[in-house]
Amino acid sequence: MTVTHRNHLLRHGCAMNFAILVLFVAISLIAQSSALEIGDFCMTSKSCDAGLHCETCLANGNVRPRCTRIQPINPLSKVKGLPYNSYTWLTTHNAFARLGVKSATGSIILSPQNQQDSITDQLNNGVRGLMLDMYDFANDIWLCHSFGGNCFNYTAFMPATAVLNEVRVFLEANPNEIITIIIEDYVTSPNGLTKVFNATGLNKYWFPLSRMPKNGGSWPTVDDMITKNQRLVVFTSKSSKESSEGIAYEWRYVVENQYGNGGMVAGSCPNRAESPAMNVTSRSLVLMNYFPDNPDVATACKHNSAPLADMMNTCYQAAGRRWPNFIAVDFYKRSDGGGAPEAVDMANGERACGCKTISSCKENVAYGECEAPEASSGGGLKNGTQSGGFDGRPFQSLWMVSLLVVTIISL
Ligand SMILES: *[C@@H]1O[C@H](CO)[C@@H](O)[C@H](O)[C@H]1NC(C)=O
Ligand SMILES: *[C@@H]1O[C@H](CO)[C@@H](O)[C@H](O)[C@H]1NC(C)=O
Ligand SMILES: *[C@@H]1O[C@H](CO)[C@@H](O)[C@H](O)[C@H]1NC(C)=O
Ligand SMILES: *[C@@H]1O[C@H](CO)[C@@H](O)[C@H](O)[C@H]1NC(C)=O
Repeated sequence: MTVTHRNHLLRHGCAMNFAILVLFVAISLIAQSSALEIGDFCMTSKSCDAGLHCETCLANGNVRPRCTRIQPINPLSKVKGLPYNSYTWLTTHNAFARLGVKSATGSIILSPQNQQDSITDQLNNGVRGLMLDMYDFANDIWLCHSFGGNCFNYTAFMPATAVLNEVRVFLEANPNEIITIIIEDYVTSPNGLTKVFNATGLNKYWFPLSRMPKNGGSWPTVDDMITKNQRLVVFTSKSSKESSEGIAYEWRYVVENQYGNGGMVAGSCPNRAESPAMNVTSRSLVLMNYFPDNPDVATACKHNSAPLADMMNTCYQAAGRRWPNFIAVDFYKRSDGGGAPEAVDMANGERACGCKTISSCKENVAYGECEAPEASSGGGLKNGTQSGGFDGRPFQSLWMVSLLVVTIISL
């Protein structure tokens, strides 16, 4: 055998090995991309498609874990450039009150807890509305879940700056995103709120009061808010803060239904006491609460499923045929399938393009012209739900096709 011939064989062998490797990679990519869809039985969250996690809903008798949604579709990725009040945002009630954390004072927490993950994780999952309870405490402003307007070590979660810093980091890293903060405001110290927003650098993103429509008109478009970098909308529950600190008094701009058990009576959607009636159209934003008086991680999956969608229809009628702009829930990741993310997609579809879900909206077509819903495959809970719709799929398939081509060529 000549040296040249041996080299040739060697090179041939390497090419074969390489081809087998590529084939192996391609196969595992195919396996990954056909990851489990919404409603499919699963073992771990990693085996589910992007935007899903694997869990049971015992409260619904759903004892085998299934892939369930934890992310809405970003409406700005489907329908661009509408006014802020033409979109719907997933909103976390008591966003800071995370299950199982200790107080930053070192004390144990003896007050109810409403969410499972950090503010950063919530934002990364597509939460865009944060409900925060703020109190004067320990010479600072703290996030508390308290009573009587007083915060205590065992009801104090953390200083507001901790959470507001997470919000700033997210706004910095995501220059096309808009966040709304809704404050249950117990702060009486002069300029208390302004100081924390200043201290955390969030004043830079402030959407000014002067640009908020006062008589039910349209808000500026999201494009305009993004261009001007006015991407933080803040509401307070204290009317005096509007003149003293320029912070919008929520119910001058928003109608909101009853929170707690009173807001969970099927077929009725009364306004909360501080809010104008739901059908008052001089307020151009609609907020829907749907969570019980006592947050409960076990039953949240049941509440956040069909009953949430039903209440959205009820509130749509009560609000003078307006879909909610904010859908506020406890344990936003819990459901038996589509959950709060699906409710948000539905409202966005109806509002932004006249379709049953935002995933059916088509670009540059007339309002009401929709894509046919994707065919569903297997999965007992898929009835009435849309599957998938997450970004990245087309890219992934393109990648796989090119890999296969490379594999075939090298064979
Ligand atoms: C509350 O926490 C602070 C800070 O850790 C501590 O200094 C203070 O003693 C605590 N107060 C009570 C009543 O435990
Ligand atoms: C907050 O910052 C603005 C400038 O960005 C300043 O004019 C204002 O005085 C500050 N307010 C407080 C209470 O620190
Ligand atoms: C608005 O809702 C109230 C009940 O909250 C009802 O009495 C009133 O007739 C409604 N107004 C309109 C214009 O539908
Ligand atoms: C979906 O559920 C409804 C009511 O539970 C039922 O009438 C309908 O046949 C179901 N559709 C499918 C496709 O399973």
